Amino acid sequence: MSNIEQTLSIIKPDAVERNLDNEIKKIFQKNGFRILKEKKLKLEKTEAEQFYKVHETKPFYNDLCTYLSSGTIVVMILEKENAIKSNRDLMGATDPAKAEEGTLRKLFGKSIDKNSVHGSDSPDNAKIEIDFFFKD
Ligand code: CDP
Ligand code: MG
Repeated sequence: MSNIEQTLSIIKPDAVERNLDNEIKKIFQKNGFRILKEKKLKLEKTEAEQFYKVHETKPFYNDLCTYLSSGTIVVMILEKENAIKSNRDLMGATDPAKAEEGTLRKLFGKSIDKNSVHGSDSPDNAKIEIDFFFKD
């Protein structure tokens, strides 16, 4: 049975500042993702804190929110069959040093914090994250 899903993707500041956003968007499209909506923006720290609220008890939370709000990001709604898992597979492991060959984080990530891309991890979070950026 078909399972077309939408997921939220973010091209993080480390990748946008290296002008990798077009290259990363092409890789998504080559892998069958349709970019339904996209925008380029810079978050306030408080907005990053809200976006990453699930991580608020983690030791890396403050640095993570400072980082996500440190520069321009590109946010996109991606659509594809099983888009959520498909995007997580294409992104690779959180730590680029542990990511599989050919994944976005292996190709572009600099470190566990500057790992170039975000992708929703479940249907519930995809909905919450899409609404966060595109509810209007
Ligand atoms: O992004 P992903 O879902 O793969 O990982 P996460 O566990 O949900 O963590 C969110 C983000 O926090 C990661 O993408 C990293 O940028 C950052 N992080 C970090 O800086 N240090 C860690 N030890 C773990 C995650
Ligand atoms: Mg996550």
